[in-house]
Order: sequence, then C-alpha cells, then structure tokens
Amino acid sequence: MNILGITCFVHDSAACLIKDGKIIANIEEERFNRVKHTGDFPKQSIDYVLHAAGLTIADVDIIAFNWNPVKALIAELLKFVLITPPVYFKMIKHNKPPKHFKTIFYSFFLRRFVKKHMGIGFRGKVVWVDHHMAHAASTYYLSSFDQADILVVDGFGEYESTTFFKAKAHKIERRWWILSLHSLGLIYLNFTRFLGFAPYQEGKTMALSSYGRDTYQNLFNRIFRILPDGTFAIDMRYLSWWNLAGGKFDPDLGLPREPYEPITQRHMDIAASLQKKAIDIVLHMIGAASRASNNKYLCLAGGIFLNCNLNGIAHKSGFYEKYFIPPFTSDTGGAAGAALYAAFGLKNETYTPGTLPFSPYLGPDYPDDEIEKALIKSNLPYRKSESPGIEAARALADNKIIGWMQGRVEAGPRALGARSILANPLHKTIKDRLNQKIKGREYFQPFGPIVTEEAATKYFEIDSPIPQSAYYMLLAVPVKKEYQSQLAGITHVDGTARIQVVRREWCPELYSLLKELEKLTGFAVAINTSFNYHEPIICSPDDAINTFKTRELDMLVLGKFIVEKHTRK
Ligand SMILES: [Fe+2]
Repeated sequence: MNILGITCFVHDSAACLIKDGKIIANIEEERFNRVKHTGDFPKQSIDYVLHAAGLTIADVDIIAFNWNPVKALIAELLKFVLITPPVYFKMIKHNKPPKHFKTIFYSFFLRRFVKKHMGIGFRGKVVWVDHHMAHAASTYYLSSFDQADILVVDGFGEYESTTFFKAKAHKIERRWWILSLHSLGLIYLNFTRFLGFAPYQEGKTMALSSYGRDTYQNLFNRIFRILPDGTFAIDMRYLSWWNLAGGKFDPDLGLPREPYEPITQRHMDIAASLQKKAIDIVLHMIGAASRASNNKYLCLAGGIFLNCNLNGIAHKSGFYEKYFIPPFTSDTGGAAGAALYAAFGLKNETYTPGTLPFSPYLGPDYPDDEIEKALIKSNLPYRKSESPGIEAARALADNKIIGWMQGRVEAGPRALGARSILANPLHKTIKDRLNQKIKGREYFQPFGPIVTEEAATKYFEIDSPIPQSAYYMLLAVPVKKEYQSQLAGITHVDGTARIQVVRREWCPELYSLLKELEKLTGFAVAINTSFNYHEPIICSPDDAINTFKTRELDMLVLGKFIVEKHTRK
C-alpha cells in the first residue's frame, strides 16, 4: 500500500511517502521553494517523494493530511461561544488575515489542490488525521517502543494544546487533553515576540534564558496554574496576550522590546522565568502521567520539544526509563505523522521500522554528475577528492570554516550533518566569527557539537546507551567540567551543549571526518550549525554554492568535490 502524507496551508509544509510499511522519503517544502516555514501546497516535495519511491500520484492509495477541518470548524464555533463574541471578534481583528480559517477552508478542498498541482490520476482516499494524533504517530511509531505513553504539547491542534495518549501494539488511544485556550506553546511564542524576536525564534528565548534569573516567578505563577490532576490552566485574563488581541501586558513586565533595542538583564530574566515555568509545567505533566501509568517509556512530540534544555531535564527526571522525540517534533513532522497513523493506526500495515534508532536522512541526495554540473555552472574552481572527510578534518584543525553537504537531506528543522556548517570548537574566537561573519546570529546563541557515538560519553554527561533524541540535536547535556574551557566553542553559558551524536552507518564521511579530527586535535567533536544564512537550510548543490559565494566560508565540500577559498577566482 502506498500512503502519501501531506501537511500544508499553515506552515512547515511537507510530504512523506510510506510504501508497504516503510518510510521511503520525507522532505519539507521549504528546502525546495526556499521560503522559510512555507505553508504552500508541497508540490515539489510530493514530486520528490513519489520519484524516490518510483511512483506517480496515480499509484497512491491514501493521502493522509495532518489536520481535521471538521473538528477545527466545530472548535472555532465553540470558542466563539466560550470566550464571548466581543473577545472573539477582537481576536479575529488582531489576527489579520485569520490564517486559521484559511487552513480550515483549504483543507476541505485538499483533493482539488492535489488535482490542480499533481494532475489527474489520484483515485485513492483522503484521510484527515487529527493534528495531535499525527504528532503522536510521528513519535510512537518511530520510537521502537511497543508499549508507551505519549505526550504532545504544541501551539494548538484542532481544539487542544496538549494531549496525552497511551499506545500498545501499534494502537494509539487518546486519554486526556487540554483545550487550546490554555496553550503553553502559544504563551512561549508570545513572550518570544515580547522579547523582540520573530515567530519560530523560540530558540533565541531558550538561549537567552541561560543568562537570566527566575525573578518573574510570581508573574508566571499568576499566568499558569498547575492543577492537581496533572494538567495546567492559563488565567483567562492573560488570554488576550497569546491571541494578540491587543491586550495590555502586566505592568510588572515593563514594555515589550523592539527588535533593534539592546538586550538587558530584564529581558534575560523574563526569558529565564518563562523557561523555568515551561520546564515546571512539562515536568508536572510527565510526573503525574508516570505515577498513573505502568508504562516505562514516554514518547514526546510537538513544537515545545524543540526546546533542548527542557528535553535534557525531562530525560534526567527519572519519571520514565526511556524517552523518544522524533527529529521532526515540530509541525515539520506533520506529513510523516499523518502517513504513519494511516499506515499503522488505521490500516494495519506491517511495520518495517528500518534502522534503529530511526534514521532522519530521508530527503534528496545528489549524484556526483549533478554536483559537478552545478560547480561548472558556478565558475568556481574545484577538485575531486577520494577522502573529503579527511581533507575537511585537516581544514577544521587549521581553524577553517566549512560548508558541508553529504548524502540525503535530513528531516526536521535542525541540520544533522547532511547540510551543515562545520567548525573547530577548540578555537577560542570561533563562535564570534561564526555568529558575526557567517550566520548573522545573536551573540548569546550557542552552537551545538557534533560528536561520534564512541566519544559522546567522554566529553559529555550523557547516558549510555545514548538516548535516541541525541541523534537529532534535541538534547542539551552538561559538558564535563574538565572539557568546558577547551570546548568553549560549543559550551553554553550554563555549561551545557546541544549535542548531536553521529552514527557511522548514517553519515560515513562525516564520521571519518570526526575520527581524523580526533587524531589531529584530540577531540572527535566539531561545531555543527545549519548550512544557511537567514533562509531555509540548503538542499541542492546550487543552494550550497550560493551560500558559499555570499558568506565567509573557507571551504565547501559537496559530496566528493572540494572548493577552497584561496582557489576562488
Ligand atoms: Fe503541532
């Protein structure tokens, strides 16, 4: 059976193809159309995943869509009644255009969109999968756990912001949920805006929080109420904040920060208090769930779990024995989640898990001849190398900064070594150079380390066997005290690092790079940051070349081809 998962019309459009129980391909549309967080119909992604599976749209049996417009419409009507029409209309007014309605409306006509973009031929079934069920499927089915609890926390689904499920033998059952009026994800987003950052920049708030103190604890205690049943509620007086209904902020907070204004201790303290509260709430839910459950494993999903600091603390909480977070825990996993649910939740397909842990490298690969064509067109001098990993390691040891493209594109919002910028973490000023000259990021944003499986426990306080989330750059772990000053390039101000562990089987060239780097510097660790500059992470050789030409990278490694700065024309 061929199942095509789609997510679109909101943000993070993507497509995923499952053929006879196996994920063949998954990719986000932004990698192709170069529009960050695009909500467009994912035509190019669908073309790619079908091509990867050797199929056409006519071969697809089911299209699984990660949104249920009927439930969303009913929820919208109920919200109108619950929060009273005047507040509701105020919300609509301050949400121009009301994207939510567009999503609902377009979703009803998904089949027409498929016909318009993919041509006639699709005669299969369209299945609407509830948004949180898709998140749940995206984590449970890839976790390798047979019996597990599942917690989904994000901005909002059709009517809920948080949902708890139980799963056993491929069946997922919803147990409880929290209405979307009480959304931890949206409060976090709204404070991110308050601090002068854009939507999707919650990572900046998280990074900033490490510089602050929990001095706004009383305020956040007023906003969030932790309930004895293991859930939480938001004081409705603060409702107007998260829906941008023009509400007044609490006078204790002071004025919102404009993006051009300097960051002060007050902003750091607000971020720290928010982060602390988010952690408290998630731990409260996980703790209560584990006490009421006989399951040992917990699967997590939803945008909140992009928060590595929170994830690190949750993993260490001891409430469950093991945790799993998929590489596309945000809505980037919507297509995969919907397809997984259709395959295993609805259709009893035979599960083919593939590699364990789950490999995120499911996007397009580019053969040598295509890379070479792009290089010739670029007019950049290049050479072919039999061991690009070794050569790149030597350049890193020489404090060069490298644009790196190898193998299939990684799924999810983080660069996992397939499309990365690599640098030497031992170099004292590397962070400033990367931030200022290449990435254009804030000074307080840390860079994550990429490390071999074998070396991870040497430098970092991480469990062995290594938690699966560490393969997807979703975990902040302490850097061992004795290495913190040497590994200054990847050690955050709080002594942690957002680690990514590399498996030889998945990334052989990157693995050999790290092994060579270990020989040269004594550390099998490199800085890994996404290969982009204020745009989606690169996908094709052309994207890589364009970024190389405009940023101060010293070397570009595309498969077996190498371009060096000093050889530029
Ligand atoms: Fe979501």
